[in-house]
Amino acid sequence: MPVITNIEDLKRIYRRRAPKMFYDYAESGSWTEQTFRENTSDFEQIRLRQRVAVDMSGRSTATQMIGQDVAMPVALAPVGLCGMQHADGEILAARAAEKFGVPFTLSTMSICSIEDVAENTSAPFWFQIYTLNDDEFNRNIINRAKAAGCSALVITVDLQVLGQRHKDLKNGLSAPPKPTLANWLDLSTKWAWGLGMLQTKRREFGNIVGHVEGVSDPSSLSSWTAEKFDPSLDWDKVRKLMDMWGGKVILKGILDVEDAVRAAEVGADAIVVSNHGGRQLDGAMSSIRMLRPIIDAVGDRIEVHLDSGIRSGQDVLKAVAMGAKGTMIGRAFVYGLGAMGEAGVTRALEVIHRELDVSMALCGRRHVGDLDRDVLLIPEDFEGRWQR
Ligand SMILES: Cc1cc2nc3c(=O)[nH]c(=O)nc-3n(C[C@H](O)[C@H](O)[C@H](O)COP(=O)(O)O)c2cc1C
Repeated sequence: MPVITNIEDLKRIYRRRAPKMFYDYAESGSWTEQTFRENTSDFEQIRLRQRVAVDMSGRSTATQMIGQDVAMPVALAPVGLCGMQHADGEILAARAAEKFGVPFTLSTMSICSIEDVAENTSAPFWFQIYTLNDDEFNRNIINRAKAAGCSALVITVDLQVLGQRHKDLKNGLSAPPKPTLANWLDLSTKWAWGLGMLQTKRREFGNIVGHVEGVSDPSSLSSWTAEKFDPSLDWDKVRKLMDMWGGKVILKGILDVEDAVRAAEVGADAIVVSNHGGRQLDGAMSSIRMLRPIIDAVGDRIEVHLDSGIRSGQDVLKAVAMGAKGTMIGRAFVYGLGAMGEAGVTRALEVIHRELDVSMALCGRRHVGDLDRDVLLIPEDFEGRWQR
């Protein structure tokens, strides 16, 4: 077992083990990737205040997200195609999250189905919905998530249409990969991945195949999304979905103060300040830059979480100290999953937890609940002065 000291180590192993098309799928942003890059580089602009001679015994990173106990303020974000990064990927990631004591979110675009993940785990997970232009499918999938005991519905509001990632088109991204010469050549060097895939029956979109009619080719993500995703999703429809669900709701993909206010008005339990990991509107602000204005506007009315760009426990600390009640990680756990399955996701969570715990201590705080803006040094012009 190689010595893994940070998330970057997992990414290096992941790159060697996963087929190129799935590595590229995860490690890309839309168009020029400006927002994708800034999601991480903007975190680096914030500095931490070192404090000394404070009693550091009895520390804890435990807290709550939407009223649920969590070992640290981190949930696994919904990530499509995890079961292509590693055989049975969603089940493995959910198990790692469950053992660690953090929430796992299953994507609509997962390989393992809702029922499959529920059967192979014991803690309730969150379910992320993409709405299709098919009311029956939307109703059914909500009922399936209820029947599986999911404890929250995550409604993704920033993907009615798909931002373009050049590499996905060039690689012909599909699940499973098509038998082209380029794919055979690549897969011949990824034998451990291939062996895993041969041993599982889960190789298609488990929530979709067999549940939707009239789809020309569900294996091809971009054409399928263009054909079936509901471009008319608006606040009215969001409200209807919330009513249909009737339980805890998280609105994911809020990046603007006005939208945050609308989300609070519709009565969601939480929002995730997110630009989808830089995969949707290229040129949008990084999530961390938009966090403070959004918290200042709605933080007393609705729980605010953040994702996009988190690669370390220090990043989690910065978001929480700025006022987020929790965070989500996407790529940081995918690297672990693709590198070494469940053990890799566990390792990613351990790395982030240790970084959070030690950095919190070095900032002079013992509990995540004690973190506030006083531990941060934020550049004066961090949010920038922009004209509309
Ligand atoms: C490979 C990949 C697939 C994703 N699939 C989904 C998805 O199916 N549903 C969704 O709401 N968000 C999806 N996202 C966005 C993540 O939920 C999350 O917002 C993003 O990964 C956060 O940024 P980070 O990767 O920098 O942590 C995906 C992200 C990645 C990297």
